[in-house]
Amino acid sequence: MANGSFAYKKPDSCAFVIFGVTGDLTHRLVMPSLYNLATSNLLPDRFCIVGITRKEASSEKLRDDLLEGLRKYATRHIDDEVAKRLLQCVTAIEADPAEPESFDRLKDKLEKLEAKRETGGNRLFYLATPPNAFAPIAEQLGRVGLLQEQDNGTPWHRLVVEKPFGTDLASAKALNDKLLKIMDEHQIYRIDHYLGKETVQNILVLRFANGMFEPIWNRHHIDHVQITVEETLGVGTRGSFYDATGALRDMVPNHLFQLLSLVAMEPPARFDAHTVRSEKAEVLSAIQIQSEAEALQNSVRGQYTAGQIGNTKLSDYSRTEDVKPDSATETFAALKLTIDNWRWAGVPFYLRTGKALNQKRTEVAIKFRQAPFAMFTCTPVDTLAENYLVIAIEPTQGITLQFNTKIPGPSIRTDGVEMKFNYKDYFQAEPATGYETLIYDCMIGDNILFQRADSVEAGWKAVQPFIDAWKKAGGDGLQTYTAGSEGPEAAAELLTRDGRSWRKPAQG
Ligand code: BG6
Repeated sequence: MANGSFAYKKPDSCAFVIFGVTGDLTHRLVMPSLYNLATSNLLPDRFCIVGITRKEASSEKLRDDLLEGLRKYATRHIDDEVAKRLLQCVTAIEADPAEPESFDRLKDKLEKLEAKRETGGNRLFYLATPPNAFAPIAEQLGRVGLLQEQDNGTPWHRLVVEKPFGTDLASAKALNDKLLKIMDEHQIYRIDHYLGKETVQNILVLRFANGMFEPIWNRHHIDHVQITVEETLGVGTRGSFYDATGALRDMVPNHLFQLLSLVAMEPPARFDAHTVRSEKAEVLSAIQIQSEAEALQNSVRGQYTAGQIGNTKLSDYSRTEDVKPDSATETFAALKLTIDNWRWAGVPFYLRTGKALNQKRTEVAIKFRQAPFAMFTCTPVDTLAENYLVIAIEPTQGITLQFNTKIPGPSIRTDGVEMKFNYKDYFQAEPATGYETLIYDCMIGDNILFQRADSVEAGWKAVQPFIDAWKKAGGDGLQTYTAGSEGPEAAAELLTRDGRSWRKPAQG
């Protein structure tokens, strides 16, 4: 991670090899991020983008496509000079894992290009492909020796793997096993774009660069934690992917667990990738593994029906293109989890995520215990406002502390107020995709913000009982909610039965 000292390290020269170069991810995120890095002068001095196409394509054509994509999706004004410099090196090479010999040719061409461009033989392979291509591509790269590093790690060869990393515990393990037969863990960069978000990274700083939170960051002072990722968009054109995936797999073991692990991990002794990632893996592996019966008891799943969000009308999820009409796939999931360690014993973590809801909001809300007794006799404890520390990630980025204060006047009356830190009031950041830091970190070899094999597996292990229980239950227990609503009512009950409720954001 770029460390704020302003003396950012310049990455080593390298070839940036993209599989899936004509796809959506490359256009929307990878290229705009490379462009933003170029404008910040954070690309290597010697650098070339190699686009792998399945059918033969000319480099000129690929360059034009990438430029068109860049003009469409760039987050910053396009400076023609910068774009030209970035794209001048684009080279198309044909390779398809279904034709293994094409990888022998790829090796040959890539080595020639590396020699011509003097990239020092360092290679970053970016798999911006559908997940079923991850292992076949890695296997072919391994077979032809393109991933093999010398003992001293120079030149370096790295592989960036997008999400979803597996579809359950068994498939994630199988993918890890395959990749780890081909290369070492330090060469694998499993991306979760949540870790590219400034406010998500700031959780570490909030907790560990300030002395005042740690003493109260435990079961003695925290009543429970809520993690919310609400989206207003429906499934759109992703029906085929989404119907086979659902809200739980799409969001929980990756994005929501990133938030959970940063909030719940023990303080790492050092800020290095090994130590931080070990603490994250440790806390994920401390999530209590529920039985299927417990999982049913501690979860709610829902599917949206026709409704309206703002001016947009949505039809039933089951009528989305490429979705089975009798689909039991959830578009909303809420879970209650517990973490079996000394810090968190007895503190529930409530997680919820869903599509087609009434607002876009991502936040972690830490609810503190109430003041222990009603000292203000005219103000029963029951009416005290709740004490929350809210880490807001979307759409606002900041931190809010909710606490009670005295209403001015001769008698003691209290009201809940908010103390707010808003990122944009203090810092001016250039509009970014959120991938810049991640891509830059891959190039400088810092994998602190990437998922390690054990974390990925611990995440899947914790959600597996929910996957299994829901699969067996099919349509039974699947709630519905109107698009544009707050989600299924049963999600509120998940907390009310524990005498709690989801935090309602302050109006206005
Ligand atoms: C993706 C999911 O990983 O994250 C999408 O596949 C989801 O379904 C997206 O919409 C949410 O990301 P963000 O950054 O908008 O919260």
